[in-house]
Amino acid sequence: MKLFIDTANIEEIEKANSYGVLDGVTTNPTLLSKEGAEPLSQLKKICSIVKGPVSAEVTSLEAKGMVKEAGELSEISSNIVIKVPSTVEGLKATKELSDAGIKTNLTLCFSPSQALLVAKAGAAYVSPFVGRLDDVSTDGMQLIEDIRLIYDNYNIATQIIAASVRHPIHFLESARMGADVATVPFSVIEKLMNHPLTDIGIRRFLDDWAKLKTGLEKK
Ligand code: E4P
Repeated sequence: MKLFIDTANIEEIEKANSYGVLDGVTTNPTLLSKEGAEPLSQLKKICSIVKGPVSAEVTSLEAKGMVKEAGELSEISSNIVIKVPSTVEGLKATKELSDAGIKTNLTLCFSPSQALLVAKAGAAYVSPFVGRLDDVSTDGMQLIEDIRLIYDNYNIATQIIAASVRHPIHFLESARMGADVATVPFSVIEKLMNHPLTDIGIRRFLDDWAKLKTGLEKK
């Protein structure tokens, strides 16, 4: 499973990228507004750090406007992927963009039917939001499982991005369900390699090593 970071914060992207396991970035208008910088230049900076796909979202509600914005966003860098909402207008824009060879990430996906139609329109990625479904007492991971089954039934190549990931269990379950990608906030990425037994084990090895050294010095 590929790992994307879900942020527009440069420091977080640089740190995660330094781990050597980062495959891409997803942003959205909320994440970019948190940074307070001019969005196109912020996206340009992000694309200079990460060479994998960087999702940038359109804000128009109509297909025509989405396609126009996609043209502007695509000029930022060749690794920009256009994030489009999972709506009827989003479908129309996706079809037009995919016919023109522009990659799209269909965001705000909350149902398997949306996932099937966006794939038919030529989406390169679909982003089911697991955390937001959990928030309304609906099993978010079930959506990933359903989309995986449907895509496998028809050999659909659209990649499933588990999005709205809130904790390490979402990440783990995404891998178990066969998501192609998980896009994860930095706070969660940091937790993925943590284990108290690893820390205790290191401490014990170092203590024993120090004891051996002191014993040898005394001889
Ligand atoms: C995905 O691409 C979105 O940017 C993101 O995962 C949304 O997550 P949230 O529900 O925590 O805002």
